[in-house]
Amino acid sequence: MEKENKRKPKLWHRFSAKKVTMIFSFLVVFILLIIFLHKPSSPTSKSPTQRIVKETHSIIHSKPSSASPASLERVVFNSVTPRGSISDHHKVVLVTGAAGFVGTHVSLALKRRGDSVVGLDNFNRYYDPKLKRSRQDLLLNEGVYVVEGDINDMALLNRLFDTVRFTHVMHLAAQAGVRYAMKNPSSYINSNIAGFVSLLEVCKSLNPKPAIVWASSSSVYGLNTKLPFSEEDRTDQPASLYAATKKADEEIAHSYNHIYGLSLTGLRFFTVYGPWGRPDMAYFEFTKNILKGKKITVFQGPGGVSVGRDFTYIDDVVKGCVASLDTAGKSIGREGKRKGLKAPLRVFNIGNTSPESVEKLVGILERLLKKKAMRDVQEMPKNGDVMFTHANISLATRELGYKPTTDLETGLKKFVEWYVDWIQKD
Ligand SMILES: *[C@@H]1O[C@H](CO)[C@@H](O)[C@H](O)[C@H]1NC(C)=O
Repeated sequence: MEKENKRKPKLWHRFSAKKVTMIFSFLVVFILLIIFLHKPSSPTSKSPTQRIVKETHSIIHSKPSSASPASLERVVFNSVTPRGSISDHHKVVLVTGAAGFVGTHVSLALKRRGDSVVGLDNFNRYYDPKLKRSRQDLLLNEGVYVVEGDINDMALLNRLFDTVRFTHVMHLAAQAGVRYAMKNPSSYINSNIAGFVSLLEVCKSLNPKPAIVWASSSSVYGLNTKLPFSEEDRTDQPASLYAATKKADEEIAHSYNHIYGLSLTGLRFFTVYGPWGRPDMAYFEFTKNILKGKKITVFQGPGGVSVGRDFTYIDDVVKGCVASLDTAGKSIGREGKRKGLKAPLRVFNIGNTSPESVEKLVGILERLLKKKAMRDVQEMPKNGDVMFTHANISLATRELGYKPTTDLETGLKKFVEWYVDWIQKD
């Protein structure tokens, strides 16, 4: 300290007043230059190049340290650049939760038919992130880039929408799982409610505004006993916090459609299964544990009633998602509303309309795996799961042309083939 204090005046003394003025002038010019160069990064800028390059490189997955900013910008643009000729129906789609089970399959389907796709995913650790990273690699191989970031990060969402004019958003990012809500309730509020609102807030400010298709859930039917579940049935008796957040989303969608003229389509998925599926789901856990010779917990209703699900194969679900995007109609905005136009607000059951018991599921798995399951039969705890689901899909069939074609046996066969291959590579 002392040494420095002594040296400073000496150094200063060596400069003449003229030199000091000159250095200051250079400094001022230099600072002005920096400010000038940074100006294009204002939010209203038409050329987002610098901003994207400067600010997004830290949130994009592929080795942020090695990826130069320029190459980074290129990948996002590459991801939306169509390979073939552009059709009249060409869509530019942001898929949230793109490294998730349904997100990966929908992204691939859109890309393969020629649409432009960018993914967004926060790669959280709710289940093995390795699986998510493998799905990300799969997508990258097909030219779909997945940005690593959170839907609650509105600055990031704004940057993405500034870079690319998305015509559609396929919103699949969510905190899934029914029982986990008792362990970590805030993650459901954060992802499913706050995240959805943050996405809608950004979408409603755009011009033109994208149409949004998003994942609701069959769990909104809650304690309903009338079967099959129809979109006209009541959905005010959720049996879990997860279901309650999805129900809340349906009401939030109503309000954003009403106020801002956003086109919103909610899809009530029924127990989606298949290759690249979620490891927290029963069919996945059963497969894993049967192969390992470990016990599986099979739930039963009171008095030995078997639990049933309307298991829906991923390829059928993807068809429902794509058809929803294709028929979404436009977000008309408040201007459109003033002109008396109406933006679509829709909800569809996406199920198989062919429920099967969990007992049957286990039987099929035993046959496919050529191994007996060690069943630990227990009464189902009343902590969120419902006894039976069955989708009435007549509305989706009429409006979307939705027709599931995969039965449980066929679908599980494809899952098991994928699973065996996956664990060998793992
Ligand atoms: C199926 O749902 C539709 C409405 O989407 C309803 O009109 C029809 O009555 C329902 N069918 C059954 C068998 O519940």
